[in-house]
Amino acid sequence: MPLRSVQSKMARNSETYVCQSCGAVYGKWAGRCDACGEWNTVELEASEAGPPGSLSAAPSKSKGKKLQFTSLAGATEDVPRLLTGNAEFDRACGGGLVPASALLIGGDPGVGKSTLLLQIASGLAKSGSAVAYISGEEAVAQIRLRARRLGVEKTPVHLASATSLRDILATLKTERPDVVIIDSIQTLWSDTLPAAPGTVTQVRACAQELVRYAKSSGAALLLVGHVTKDGQIAGPRVVEHMVDAVMYFESEQGRDFRILRAVKNRFGAAHEIGVFEMSGGGLKEVANPSQLFLTDGDRDVSGAAVFAGIEGTRPVLVEIQALVSPSSLAAPRRAVVGWDSARLSMLLAVLDARAGLDFGRHDVFLNVAGGLRIAEPAADLAAAAALCSSLFDSPLPHDRVVFGEVALSGAVRAVNQTEARLKEAKKLGFAGALAPAGAVRDALKVTEASTLADLVAWARR
Ligand code: TYD
Ligand code: MG
Repeated sequence: MPLRSVQSKMARNSETYVCQSCGAVYGKWAGRCDACGEWNTVELEASEAGPPGSLSAAPSKSKGKKLQFTSLAGATEDVPRLLTGNAEFDRACGGGLVPASALLIGGDPGVGKSTLLLQIASGLAKSGSAVAYISGEEAVAQIRLRARRLGVEKTPVHLASATSLRDILATLKTERPDVVIIDSIQTLWSDTLPAAPGTVTQVRACAQELVRYAKSSGAALLLVGHVTKDGQIAGPRVVEHMVDAVMYFESEQGRDFRILRAVKNRFGAAHEIGVFEMSGGGLKEVANPSQLFLTDGDRDVSGAAVFAGIEGTRPVLVEIQALVSPSSLAAPRRAVVGWDSARLSMLLAVLDARAGLDFGRHDVFLNVAGGLRIAEPAADLAAAAALCSSLFDSPLPHDRVVFGEVALSGAVRAVNQTEARLKEAKKLGFAGALAPAGAVRDALKVTEASTLADLVAWARR
């Protein structure tokens, strides 16, 4: 068992062992980490600056200042923002970078983090900010090559290749740039620690120092973090807690577009996304992602429904595809891409119990087109529509969008931002929608579904 809490009660001068993969803390060495299951990752950690000791026990030289409490109301300033000139990036971070804040961008190797950040750096430099781009991964020549490929080699970005935290901080303190980009946090090392670069100890210490620098100097800090095979930013959650915003840069295998997804943001909406397309000349903004996630082609196929979703603050239309086919297996297959598989099981059970549709002897495959990942419960009705359409082998009306949450009772529940969904559908040429009862009607012709029976009737026509 991780001992974080137990240990804080114990005398702190004993040794601490930390899993270098997930950051779990142990009182003694172990071959395998109980928390993440990795082998040979638990290592002795150098104690951090000695035990703090208890304030009341310490000989009191200074008594501590009395805090001045104040009220919640009062003068506040809007957070100033640095616009990068890249609308998708600015949107994903809630309207631009915030000075004196730290932003962590995670993603698989090769997804395009360095490319994105170089483009951001040049955009900021063009608009007059002093930008320091410090790479610990690539040599200056490599970065210059990329800059040339992106056509941004003329912008006044301050470029350096370095890994020593001491050198970097010394430089930053004299140069005082407005924006600092570190690619990546795993390559940095602090010479005060014996641990190797990339270990939890180093990553944590380096991130902490840099965040402290950002807060005190007013610079906006962008940290790149690599993602481990199970999708966490390596060296690990601790960094996520230190920074003000965490974003993941994601791509679907074999596709050119990339999604920058905010998972935490102290200055804006989490779940906001920015959409890009990787091209020969770098990342291009995709201003209208709905077009990306809607397949044109053959509309008269069964098993496809267009879901009117909301990603962050933006409506996005996406096609949900289902394939239901008779199975000879005792336990028929269920496979989902882009949606929650537990949610699919629930939906199938509800369709069975409340609408009498038997999926029990069918293999069921569900796919969200374009590689988008949907987490909204509002997608239930669209997924159910696709499933019914495939089961009945009857194409749905191709000019309709579908949205609504399905309850275990089989009732269709209202969802938020109905109007925005309908407007987006109208903008993209859809004629109507299947939506929960009570949906605003001005924008589009709405067919109301208050239970699954309504959906089944609509899909069966
Ligand atoms: P990179 O930014 O180096 O990824 P990361 O820093 O996340 O590891 O991007 C690498 C990939 O992007 C590489 O496979 C080549 C591709 N790429 C393009 O397709 N077009 C471009 O203009 C650039 C610069 C890279
Ligand atoms: Mg890189």
